[in-house]
Amino acid sequence: MSKNIMEYETVDLDDSDSSVVIIDQTKLPGKTEIIRLRTAQEIWDAIYLLQVRGAPAIGVAAAFGIYVLSKGIAKEGGNSMEFEAFYEKLREQKEFLNSSRPTAVNLSWALNRMERVCLKAGREEGKTVSEVVEILHRESVAIKEEDIWVCKTIGENGLSLVKPGDGILTHCNAGQLATSKYGTATAPIYLGQERGYHFHVFADETRPLLQGARLTAYELYSSGVDVTLICDNMSAMVMKNGWVDTVFVGCDRVAANGDAANKIGTSVVATVAKRYGVPFYVCAPTSTIDYDTPTGDEIKIEQRPAEEVTEMWYKERMAPEGIKVFNPAFDVTDHELITAIVTEYGIARAPFKESLNEIRKKKEGTGK
Ligand code: MRU
Repeated sequence: MSKNIMEYETVDLDDSDSSVVIIDQTKLPGKTEIIRLRTAQEIWDAIYLLQVRGAPAIGVAAAFGIYVLSKGIAKEGGNSMEFEAFYEKLREQKEFLNSSRPTAVNLSWALNRMERVCLKAGREEGKTVSEVVEILHRESVAIKEEDIWVCKTIGENGLSLVKPGDGILTHCNAGQLATSKYGTATAPIYLGQERGYHFHVFADETRPLLQGARLTAYELYSSGVDVTLICDNMSAMVMKNGWVDTVFVGCDRVAANGDAANKIGTSVVATVAKRYGVPFYVCAPTSTIDYDTPTGDEIKIEQRPAEEVTEMWYKERMAPEGIKVFNPAFDVTDHELITAIVTEYGIARAPFKESLNEIRKKKEGTGK
């Protein structure tokens, strides 16, 4: 019998093979293909092409990637390699990986965390290159393990906002396939499922790359959740019909004022939810909160190729040759449309600048 998609690791490390192991998400749901990434170019391509995608999963892949690349640099440099020469090469690879996608802050968050650990061990504590490599190994594994705890805790916090039998709408894929386990927006759904809540979930298909149809609908359905797939332009109807009690979405970067960038179309859902009085919750690991970005206006939005709109998924091109196309991968939901931001350190509500700062203090209080 073939394995259920939920039994696979979204991102993993095979240390004996020095590779980052991922499910190629561009092939789902038709085919479950596991691929191994060994070079910086392979990791960069996998992130850019969305073979691994979703903010936390991108962070974990980048952390494993840096470890795998550090091993290669150390091997090439030999026993006598000086830390500064090692670091210079690793920094180049880090900058390269960081250029793969601009919007999800988890990418630079994970890469910067790996760099900090590297500098502390090598420059401040005078560790040898091989010791630094082992420290990078431990840090990359810790980033993945933390992600599982973070998602589960977001799930517990999110679950306190809903009741059994609720209708829940979600956009894009902020599910297990976007994280190490549970997802963020789907975490309350999975925990509720385990506890007999019987939610009715609506998954937006999420044009143009269909993360909702191909990934969210697939993973929820595979888990036995009652899920109904809708096109993006149907959310107003299901909300007007009273079928949706709550919206849970993920995010790629939350600005200090609570504006949240997520998959294109999220702000439409938020606007419609406001119109019909449906609470709109953004599920955000604290690694996705960017306190250095004051508002959503400063978040860089990734633009993607026109073909994703005009031909991808169609048997033949569905738009005139030469047509102008606008294809931003994300939009920013204004904080005024957000009911609350659900993190692993609690639930932030307006005024967000203050409540997000409280979340930061709470996290720092734990020493993380
Ligand atoms: O372009 P993608 O598929 O990487 O976009 C993913 C999203 O927008 C997710 O909602 C977000 O990264 C949160 S994942 C927990």
